[in-house]
Amino acid sequence: MDVMRWAVAGVFGLVAGTIVSATAQAAPPVPSDAEVAARVEAVLGRMSIEEKIGQLTQLAGGLFPDAPKPADVIRKGGAGSVLWLNDRKEFNALQKIAVEESPSKIPLLFGLDVIHGYRTIFPVPLAMASSWDPAVAERAQTVAAKEARAAGILWTFGPMLDIARDARWGRIVEGAGEDPFLGAAMAAAQVRGFQGPYLGAPDHVVACAKHFAGYGAADGGRDYDPSYLPETRLRNVYFPPFQAAVKAGVGTFMSAYMDLNDVPASGNRFLLHDVLRGEWGFQGFVVSDAFAVRSLVTQGFARDGRDAAFRALHAGVDMDMASNTYADHLAGLVKDGTLQLADIEAAVRPILAIKVRMGLFEQPYTDESKFAQVVALPEHRKEALLAAQRSMVLLRNERRLLPLAKTLGKVAVIGPLADSQEATEGSWIVFDHTPAAVTVVAGIRAKLPGAKIEYAPGPEIQRDIASPFAQSTKPAQTPEQAKAAFRKAVATARNADVVVMALGETADMAGEAASRASLDLPGRQEELLEAVAALGKPVVLVLLNGRPLSIGWAAEHVPAILEAWEPGSEGGHAIADILFGDVNPGGKLPVTIARKGANEPLYYARNLTHSPESGERYTSRYWDGPTTPLYPFGFGLSYTTFSIANLKVAAPQVKVGSPVAVTAEVTNTGSVAGDEVVQLYIHQKAGSDSRPMRELKGFERITLKPGEKKTVAFTLGPDELGYWSTQAGKRIQEAEAFDVWVGADSFATLHADFAVAR
Ligand code: NOJ
Repeated sequence: MDVMRWAVAGVFGLVAGTIVSATAQAAPPVPSDAEVAARVEAVLGRMSIEEKIGQLTQLAGGLFPDAPKPADVIRKGGAGSVLWLNDRKEFNALQKIAVEESPSKIPLLFGLDVIHGYRTIFPVPLAMASSWDPAVAERAQTVAAKEARAAGILWTFGPMLDIARDARWGRIVEGAGEDPFLGAAMAAAQVRGFQGPYLGAPDHVVACAKHFAGYGAADGGRDYDPSYLPETRLRNVYFPPFQAAVKAGVGTFMSAYMDLNDVPASGNRFLLHDVLRGEWGFQGFVVSDAFAVRSLVTQGFARDGRDAAFRALHAGVDMDMASNTYADHLAGLVKDGTLQLADIEAAVRPILAIKVRMGLFEQPYTDESKFAQVVALPEHRKEALLAAQRSMVLLRNERRLLPLAKTLGKVAVIGPLADSQEATEGSWIVFDHTPAAVTVVAGIRAKLPGAKIEYAPGPEIQRDIASPFAQSTKPAQTPEQAKAAFRKAVATARNADVVVMALGETADMAGEAASRASLDLPGRQEELLEAVAALGKPVVLVLLNGRPLSIGWAAEHVPAILEAWEPGSEGGHAIADILFGDVNPGGKLPVTIARKGANEPLYYARNLTHSPESGERYTSRYWDGPTTPLYPFGFGLSYTTFSIANLKVAAPQVKVGSPVAVTAEVTNTGSVAGDEVVQLYIHQKAGSDSRPMRELKGFERITLKPGEKKTVAFTLGPDELGYWSTQAGKRIQEAEAFDVWVGADSFATLHADFAVAR
């Protein structure tokens, strides 16, 4: 069938400028690969070269007033996609121009960053990784996709899959933390959530695995600085989440901003061509990060815009996000023979294929009447609540201060984030969205309707250098106002039976362009915490933050600490549920918490490169303070206790290529039901390369009633036991001896040995 006719056959019609649905419609049949390819060729066959280059161009819809007017460009067939726009009416108006007025009538793909929810906001991705439950991330992104799709967005720039081992890097909040195994599980789950069972599934969107690759390893944790990653580390640590996304069928990739080993990621043919398409067989399309094609000039890589367009396309960037470099230069490059038309067409094909698969040729418009109904669905809030509850990590609970009694008469809720909807929803919410979260204060008030809940924010906190994304122009508190706020907070705490302190970072303190040198509580929060603790009242510290913070003083002096991260729309309810015992916390850290920023990068899976026999004095450390983690990777407490015992490896020896089963018994030894995340770590004792002291290779979150016992089973096969070797120059599995540990965090002590043999 001719694609043109399909476009007109769409069941939506334009009525007085508003798109309405004619009838409830059945999902169109899923086209086969051959059908998709045939339709792509049919469209391609009637496009001019200008239109082909147009498909490779993504226009900035908002944000940049000086950018070319989208409508004019679209009318000429000069754009394949639009970003930074979030307005259903405008989407439909622009789409109408594309499908009715542009020469080949190719629909636009509207893309936007929907990172952890569209209207219903979920915990930030770092928090969702703390659930150690991929189903949490999958369900969250299913809801995010449904709302985004109803809002007219068909493509999200997520999931963010950058391994982050340096908490100074602000974008650690957007990913799943430091570990490739956990990261890969979260990557696949998010792709499934966003895209559904197949590309084009109703109520789903196209996902984008970003930022390929190595962005999280920026020198010194400074955003946008170069990364230097030897191939062993790239392949063993930074690639696995991306490869997992490809296996899960992710439709698109985004090339990163920075130089990777002196070659910009957006001009990096090794990454985008050799590995992504060659080795992994990725069939979708690659979009650059915003302005990254033009930036090849700034990076001292391309001579000028023309050279940048050539080098990005040649490397494998199909779509130029916002920089217009392809639009300005590709036609000239074809004209003078530097590029062939076939090079352009090779980039256009996967873009058209995604549009075909998403059903855009049949249904280019968004039904504007559906949105209100979709975002009001009560199950969305329920999912957000569950995700928040499962994401929180109990770091400390001395003398079982938690859970608190619901019979408390007077509770003081103190801290600059305690009633902040922005901080509760967290970093990177959708463009144009107004935060509307349940705050800590609101959550506690709802939980204890009869109690006296008094709230005092204390001194404000803010970045020393404002965020480039800052919207507020509110003047900062004067030193006098801050002093008065401090006094009032202490006085409020003095009156209470229990004090809940909500401290951490504001939403703009983590995320893009939000790196910091210190990991301390910013502003005067620590001073306030110490002053309140000195009152001798029971104090619970609730952390709202997008990166791990070095809370060394609190870890010794504050009896209860809950890492709530940035928990989203239902955050305050989830926090109150945990503080008052309706929910037993079971999250675990997806990152090591360092004692100070200067200890970063700090992660558990490091190599031991100097013998500990040489004594304490010659171990890896600084002389001005321990470098051991404040809290290790995988750590988290519960209101109950667990024992993990009876570790068994099915056979003492296993053949290369064969799987071996590992089991352990977990018992709830306390008096309430609870969750334990059982974690398996391995270490290859010798080989062609030295291997990390421990690597996570299995985990399972299980729920046990008091006294209940379960056997948890893991399988170690070539995927878990092999690695990419520097010596061999390829991925290998060696016949060597292994340690295996199973336990409740990366310090697990329950140990067994086994060997792999030829
Ligand atoms: C820049 C960010 O690095 C990237 O993560 C995002 O998707 C794009 N801008 C689009 O907003």
